[in-house]
Amino acid sequence: MCGIVGYVGPKNATPILIEGLARLEYRGYDSAGIAVISSDGALEVRKAAGKLQNLRSTVATAEPEGYAGIGHTRWATHGRPNDTNAHPHADCSGNITVVHNGIIENYAELRAELLAKGHTFRSETDTEVLSHLIEDALASGASGLAEAVRQALRRVTGSYSIAVISRDFPDRLVGARLTGPLIVGLGDGENFLASDIPAILRHTREIIILEEGEIVEVTRSSFAITDIDGNSIEHTPHHVEWDIEAAEKCGFPHYFVKEIHEQPHAVTRALLGRVQQTADGPSVRLAELDRLAASGALNQVRRIVILGCGTSIHAGILGKYAIERWSRLPVEVCIASEYRYADPIVGPETLCLALTQSGETTDTLAATRLAREHGAPVIALTNVVGSAITRLAGAVLYLQAGPEISVTATKTYVTMVTALYLLGLWLGERQLTLAPEEQQRMLTALQALPEQMQRVLESPATDEASLRELTAYLAGRESCMFIGRGAGYPLAMEGALKLKEISYIHAEAYPAGELKHGPIALLDPNVPLLAMALNSHTYDKLISNVEEVRARDAQIIAIASEGNSDIAQHADYVLTVPDAPEPIAPLLGIIPLQVLAYHVALARDCNIDQPRNLAKSVTVE
Ligand code: AGP
Repeated sequence: MCGIVGYVGPKNATPILIEGLARLEYRGYDSAGIAVISSDGALEVRKAAGKLQNLRSTVATAEPEGYAGIGHTRWATHGRPNDTNAHPHADCSGNITVVHNGIIENYAELRAELLAKGHTFRSETDTEVLSHLIEDALASGASGLAEAVRQALRRVTGSYSIAVISRDFPDRLVGARLTGPLIVGLGDGENFLASDIPAILRHTREIIILEEGEIVEVTRSSFAITDIDGNSIEHTPHHVEWDIEAAEKCGFPHYFVKEIHEQPHAVTRALLGRVQQTADGPSVRLAELDRLAASGALNQVRRIVILGCGTSIHAGILGKYAIERWSRLPVEVCIASEYRYADPIVGPETLCLALTQSGETTDTLAATRLAREHGAPVIALTNVVGSAITRLAGAVLYLQAGPEISVTATKTYVTMVTALYLLGLWLGERQLTLAPEEQQRMLTALQALPEQMQRVLESPATDEASLRELTAYLAGRESCMFIGRGAGYPLAMEGALKLKEISYIHAEAYPAGELKHGPIALLDPNVPLLAMALNSHTYDKLISNVEEVRARDAQIIAIASEGNSDIAQHADYVLTVPDAPEPIAPLLGIIPLQVLAYHVALARDCNIDQPRNLAKSVTVE
């Protein structure tokens, strides 16, 4: 949550900061602001509540010009989303400003202490204590801005990535991170700070990913990284291979729909180098796990716990079905925010799979840390290279989905499930519980998946004109019910989440057999039922549940497998996808549900890429 950008160099900082913020707006859009040290030495701050467009308008009336600046796009935690609480936040003198992503947990006591010392606060934010602490450190003789920041950060507990400028040090930026992400971009006679690579990719491909607890001081021609005690730390820059087009819309009206269409390619990438052709057929090769396996840490594993939130937990439930079936290891799927406070039974016999596309979700990080502290070996599945979760893991399986900008997850979901399945097959082989023929059947099906996904994207199940009547019908509903059995149940959960996230229609998912134990009372002709009726060994049972609902006059929308000649008599609308083995079919079934959610949200005039109240990475509890 919250995006940070910083610039120091020979160009006017303002347009660079605003452009960087535009690429970070997915991280929060409650307010935006910049601070620029102008050529005459003034520290000029512009900020505005709401979307970046409001800041653009504010800046257009009086654009600050200068060669060093910082910017911020906010997802509010402490203090309402108004102009005053928008970042950057200044100290008493207005000489120093800070932008911050994260939470200062002991801000209340620090604020009380600073107030008692005579400091004046302007906002309700936790962030503002940082500006005053830095001011205090400088007043007490800190040798420079970086040292003052170090002294301030020693006082705080919580999570942060920050960027700081001061008009007393007009040629530099100081950045720091603990849990939140922060990168340094190294340009030619100019340097940058940012929360994420796309913010600065137009200007440089040479980046440094700061590690936990590091502080960086950046001028236009140099950078120096230290730990919190001032010990210097060496880093080798990393060259970014992918280009900005990969993070842009490529002609699609929204990132959400662009990313839906990227799913076939994303799955191809997730499989890349991980499925090998042998004389006996395809086999799994997860080189990323070699070191962990060789360390012996997996030898005593007797059970698995999957941790995550939101869409990642839906991927995890699919993973559970597959991993249990293939490895015969019991798998527990736990919502990270519950697990971390549940005093869980965990130790070296429990393999922890930490699922987080962003790699930054606070709850998932905390739950994983807890499992690790109890001795559990950890494998992280994430899309973001160098993200916080990778530091907690003994091994990392990257999703390789490419940047996902839309707040609502699509391609990271299908690649996370793909990676989980590869891991399940790998574990099955290791446990000697998976017949080679079954492994090959699954790998062959996974390899066929990108082409099948492409077919779905070119079929009536996702065609706007074919979906028009159904879209109009759903757009007028206030509530929908999703049901499924087996692997169809987590598919129903993810389908319901997509619909509610972007169209704001109330949508609930239930295991089909549970309907008659209560939720069926909610159904009437105005509450449609979306049934995940893909081919499976429980298809007939699901159809019985659908019929129970039809008897109550609810409209039925079925997601079914191609070639199913039975389903039409049970449903009012049928969207078909190619047939695939039971665990894999949901990766096809989700596509019409994503596309349907998209069209319904458009029909209801909702914000597609930045749904209300949401953020791409949830770095608060
Ligand atoms: C997905 O569409 C959601 N925006 C959300 O549920 C998300 O999956 C959740 O916050 C977890 O994110 P993570 O995978 O980055 O940890």
